Amino acid sequence: MPIFADENNKLFTIETKSSTYQMAVGEYGHLLHVYYGKRIGCEHIGSGFLNADLRYLVTYYDRGFAGNPNDTGMDRTYSLDALPQEYPCFGTGDYRSTALQIRNAEGVSCCDLRYQSVRVREGKYSIPGMPAVYADSEKVDQKEGTGSWGRDSADTAASAQTLEIVLEDSVLGLEVTLLYGVLSDSDVITRAVKIRNCGAQTVYIEKAASCCVDFLYGDFDLIHFHGRHGMERQLERSPLLRAEQVLQSRRGASSHQQNPFFILASRETGETKGECYGFQLLYSGNFKGEALTDQYGQTRALLGISDELFSWELRPQETFDTPEAALCYSVEGLERLSDEYHRLLRRHVCRGVWRDRRRPVLINSWEAAYFDFDADKLERIAAQAAELGVEMLVLDDGWFGKRDSDNTGLGDWYVNEEKLGCPLGEVARRVNQLGMRFGLWIEPEMVSEDSDLYRTHPDWAFTIPGRSPIRGRNQLVLDFSRKEVVDHVLDQITEVVSHANIAYIKMDMNRHLTDIYSLGARAQNQGTTLHRYVLGVYDFLERLGERFPEILIEGCAGGGGRFDAGMLYYTPQIWCSDNTDAIERLRIQYGTSFGYPISAVGSHVSAVPNHQTGRSTDIETRGVVAMAGTFGYELDLNLITDQEKETVRRQIQDYIQYSDLIQEGRYWRLSSPMENEEYTAWEFSSEDGSDALLNLIRTGAHCNSPVQYVRLRGLAPDGWYRLEETESTRHAHRQKNAGNAILANEKKLYPGSALMSAGLPVPWMNGAYQAWQVHIVREK
Ligand code: DGJ
Repeated sequence: MPIFADENNKLFTIETKSSTYQMAVGEYGHLLHVYYGKRIGCEHIGSGFLNADLRYLVTYYDRGFAGNPNDTGMDRTYSLDALPQEYPCFGTGDYRSTALQIRNAEGVSCCDLRYQSVRVREGKYSIPGMPAVYADSEKVDQKEGTGSWGRDSADTAASAQTLEIVLEDSVLGLEVTLLYGVLSDSDVITRAVKIRNCGAQTVYIEKAASCCVDFLYGDFDLIHFHGRHGMERQLERSPLLRAEQVLQSRRGASSHQQNPFFILASRETGETKGECYGFQLLYSGNFKGEALTDQYGQTRALLGISDELFSWELRPQETFDTPEAALCYSVEGLERLSDEYHRLLRRHVCRGVWRDRRRPVLINSWEAAYFDFDADKLERIAAQAAELGVEMLVLDDGWFGKRDSDNTGLGDWYVNEEKLGCPLGEVARRVNQLGMRFGLWIEPEMVSEDSDLYRTHPDWAFTIPGRSPIRGRNQLVLDFSRKEVVDHVLDQITEVVSHANIAYIKMDMNRHLTDIYSLGARAQNQGTTLHRYVLGVYDFLERLGERFPEILIEGCAGGGGRFDAGMLYYTPQIWCSDNTDAIERLRIQYGTSFGYPISAVGSHVSAVPNHQTGRSTDIETRGVVAMAGTFGYELDLNLITDQEKETVRRQIQDYIQYSDLIQEGRYWRLSSPMENEEYTAWEFSSEDGSDALLNLIRTGAHCNSPVQYVRLRGLAPDGWYRLEETESTRHAHRQKNAGNAILANEKKLYPGSALMSAGLPVPWMNGAYQAWQVHIVREK
């Protein structure tokens, strides 16, 4: 039982495998945060338990310029500006940034929550219409045609518990339920908040974070993941300032620019040691993460839906649910934190039949043909790909409406048979005849002004009355906060998908939101539009998944512009970046790996010179980098040399052979591309350390350079291992007559402890950006 609720002492403790989280009701009814960190251990005594009471950590002093709630009488030591709180509210004398801000009908912002009740129940709570972690982690039946899409919304699996703490503001008549979810096999604690108006007056929610953690002390670094289109999730680490640091998106999507995931790490924390805390939001719209160290050296971390452009009218008896946040603590460094998130997202967030199935090796038409294709050209691309072992052709943008460039056609989801030369069903049949599946690109949230949809329903695109809407990629955004808009687009796409044998959908989104005004909302409800838009996107995906449970859906937003745990609830993989340059991808995929599993990362081999950077790298290098994701190709394989084709053939075989390790194994960052100029290396290992796959890209090229060593992780220290280069690496190196240091020693056994402590010399590889991929197998 991970949750201990001591009602008499008003002390509530959550225990995961390695962490303890404690709260207590203060003398005047406020819910105080007591502790979050290394597991302390609650003791079971018969049918009861002894709750480790850590309330001694919370201290009370008379502080200057710190208000005291009126009911504390003459006690000047109780101030909400100094006390650690579980869900601090604006208007209580806490001058720090708060989690909840409520405005009443008179326009006054004040809310004062006091404890009412507690309840522990079996199973994990769910959130209506929004993504949430679920408990059941059983492997889904692998057989095709047997899978279902959703999860039971009342997830009652015994392997999870929910803690509900009810707080109340008696003046407003507001009931706020703090929800905590714990899974027996995870170090993650989930949080969400339900706000119910039990009063007689309408109130306005101006801010409602999903979580707040008040740390009593500690010198933290903030690690976050910033970026831009084509260069997403770049890790940045800096000491927390005595100032409010805000990470947020105002773009309507979680964005390329910031990611709804950040880490607070102790100064000395590294990959393999030290304390750190993860904060991840399962949400795909505007978000706000805040980290602030206050005047007393205490740190407050907040994460939730952004309060900018947000205001939610809550009428009597109505309820508002925040998105869910997933917190995680690690005392064993960043790699352990990532490992916990990887498992959580893989097993408890991603859904549907494709959660556990090996994803097909695909070829995508985008960088192979852009808008210039017909059915014959697609068949030629598919035929060559099939011959080399590729399993699916994805027809990207350009197959519908009047869409020969990215300026027109969005919204007209009917097949352009004139361009293709035949119906879409026929294209799919021709691809199927080659032994391949067929996939299709869509961008449902968007509309081009030059489209039948826009001509018929100009009011469906976000537009501010009296103004002309801002264009992005020459397109406008459909108002998905309106159900009739979602219904229409879903029905159109359903029609297309039902008439062709489609196994995969790539759902794209190629601009951010502006002109936020919904004709579907009253003036006082315009502040709900952005959140309702996200709910509309979720509704679209939920119903698409229900209608086509066997279809694999890949998320995309101009690459990784909506790469978040919320999307992963609907799409188990997301195109990681529009930047397919293997060397730039090292940084993008490195940053992404902190919060997200490899099975979520869409990654392809593309042509050289690379279309985004102009850089050329060898095909094996591009292959090794793309294998740190859901592997595929994004070029016309007819245009590469025979030698390269042979490498591709072997790459695909390697990927399929090691797919269990790659998709399900433990992932280790062996070096940082931001710090190590010589190489970037990562590894996949099986749970029991019986085998591993080492991947390394040389990023430095020097004359007569010092030998580089790479230390492995996740092996059995007492095991003995054989090293074997993968087929594609061996083939490529043989062609170049290089990198045969390991080949020469294939029969040798290496001690696991030595491979991890002393490491392995990186073989001499001539030329920039060479790759090395080695399978490491335990022999005894
Ligand atoms: C952006 C995506 O990220 C690309 O892969 C491609 O699908 C284009 N959109 C198509 O317009």
